[in-house]
Amino acid sequence: MILAPSILAADIARLEAHARAAVDAGTKWLHIDVMDGHFVPVITFGPHVVEALQPLRAEGVVLDVHLMVEQPERHLEAFARAGASIATVHVEACPHLHRTVELIKDLGMQAGVTLNPATPLVMLEEILPDVDLVLIMSVNPGAGGQAFIPQSTSKIRRARRMLNAIGSHAYLEVDGGIKPDNVAEVVAAGANVIVAGSAVFDERERSVAENIEAFRQALYLQA
Ligand code: DX5
Ligand code: ZN
Repeated sequence: MILAPSILAADIARLEAHARAAVDAGTKWLHIDVMDGHFVPVITFGPHVVEALQPLRAEGVVLDVHLMVEQPERHLEAFARAGASIATVHVEACPHLHRTVELIKDLGMQAGVTLNPATPLVMLEEILPDVDLVLIMSVNPGAGGQAFIPQSTSKIRRARRMLNAIGSHAYLEVDGGIKPDNVAEVVAAGANVIVAGSAVFDERERSVAENIEAFRQALYLQA
């Protein structure tokens, strides 16, 4: 199980230090939520933020970029240049998804695909053999701190079956509303990459290291 803290919930004024607190606590991935004000209402980060995290990538951290943007193909080269390890695009934003996935790989990144909670999994069926990562959104994209949509667990289970059926070793990632009290459920359903924003970087009650330890405990206790 890989925990991918979402820097959307980090303190942007000291981004590298806050992200490093998660890395020091043992996480190997960082999730970067790119929003363009069109595909979702909010604007967040561009390639420069990925670039700001290069010191961590140089230490082996995987920079997992989630593109909640229209026409993502227009920005892929810039994110590759900035040092993204993985670029994940929304099927809803890509009429030529196969071409987009090939472009991501040609640019030297791993290719991820994702879909909104109301988009059926069948939309991924044809592209599945070509991707390195499938991301199941368990909230409607656009903001951190939302509640997990319960039907997502069944969607993860069905996505796991689809991947297994074609012998794919693609990562199965889940994003949105994941906390220590529901992480065991999504891991049992077949997810192996867990995105968590507020549950990692909100330090009002516990430190980043303690928040990450709470995820570890949750999985250990269920095993
Ligand atoms: C939602 C983003 C998520 C978000 C998760 O649009 O894709 O990655 O940051 O945040 P939490 O864990 O707070 O739901
Ligand atoms: Zn995300």
